[in-house]
Amino acid sequence: MGFATTAIHAGQEPDSATGAVTVPIYQTSTYAQDGLGRNKGFEYARTSNPTRLALERNLAALEGARFGYCFASGMAAIDATMRLVKAGDHVIVSDNTYGGTFRLFSRILANYNIAFDFVDTSDVANVEGAMKENTRMVFVETPTNPVMMVTDLQAVSDVAHKFGARVVCDNTFMSPYLQRPLEFGVDIVVHSTTKFLNGHSDGIGGAVVLNNEEDANWIGFVQNSAGAILSPFDSWLVLRGTKTLALRMEQHDRSGRAVAAFLEEHPKVHKIYYPGSVSHKQHDLAKRQQKGFGSMVSFDVGSLAAARTVLESVKLCTLAESLGGVETLICHPATMTHASVAADTRERLGITDGLVRISVGIEDTDDIIADLDEALAKLS
Ligand SMILES: Cc1ncc(COP(=O)(O)O)c(C=O)c1O
Repeated sequence: MGFATTAIHAGQEPDSATGAVTVPIYQTSTYAQDGLGRNKGFEYARTSNPTRLALERNLAALEGARFGYCFASGMAAIDATMRLVKAGDHVIVSDNTYGGTFRLFSRILANYNIAFDFVDTSDVANVEGAMKENTRMVFVETPTNPVMMVTDLQAVSDVAHKFGARVVCDNTFMSPYLQRPLEFGVDIVVHSTTKFLNGHSDGIGGAVVLNNEEDANWIGFVQNSAGAILSPFDSWLVLRGTKTLALRMEQHDRSGRAVAAFLEEHPKVHKIYYPGSVSHKQHDLAKRQQKGFGSMVSFDVGSLAAARTVLESVKLCTLAESLGGVETLICHPATMTHASVAADTRERLGITDGLVRISVGIEDTDDIIADLDEALAKLS
């Protein structure tokens, strides 16, 4: 079955009791049991819930995985994934990862004797060079947030597997419609479903999908034991979101290309970060690994004052953190999404005070460009 068909049907048979074509929101904490040790497959809703289970099956199918687990947020999904490593282990991480991931690893998990090395994974030689005897995981984000570095998933997987380490990919920016990391040897995919998968900026959630049964059992055990589960209602919202994922991603991708082309030619824009641009040094890799380029575009207007002018002049684009919704969102990574990254690291990564990140929505493309054009015209 094709992607769109899978998105609409996987995990979602019509309800056996009523025939309802959408999976009901099973808003229950527990389930009546027929007798001691006899139940209908559900005992307690932290452990399992039919709405969440439908979404978990749906997301696993979309990523081409055997197992899926949904969590209360993308960070909860990443945190659960990190329970696969133990004290004394070493983890290699993309140096330009989402600020919240960096914060979780460097400020919390590092206190539990897990060592992290943040390297530029867009060059596989850096990954190989950072490998140690105790390296148990390589955690990559591609393209990275917000400077859009692309990591070669197959090359990194080959290196990591040589050393017996798992590869985890945060696929939030692309969604499984545009990139399916497991096909390139990655072991585990994590998502903030808050973004493109839900797609409507109305829920926070996360997911872990994978093929290895032993690791999957452990993630399921962590999900039940630590309990950071996705609620039935939020599961239902994401299920509704994935039904239109293919259509939305097509439009996100189309408008992303148009907005990037507009920004690239604009005299007030110093630099753009967008893997779809032929000027992006990993354009060919992005073309090979991704089905499209998505709708995340970052651009540098040279200074904090200029960024402020643009961000405070736009009318259609909404100044807000987050991404992947139907509406165009615009933000200032240095003071918003990446404020927890040290200033010198931000500077090194290219997260300058003049950098603006845009998540191109699915409004009419011309309206988005006109709004940016008017805001950029205010720059002297
Ligand atoms: C790439 C990426 N991964 C993970 C997260 C964390 O997800 P959540 O906000 O759902 O916890 C985000 C949030 O912005 C993100 O952009």
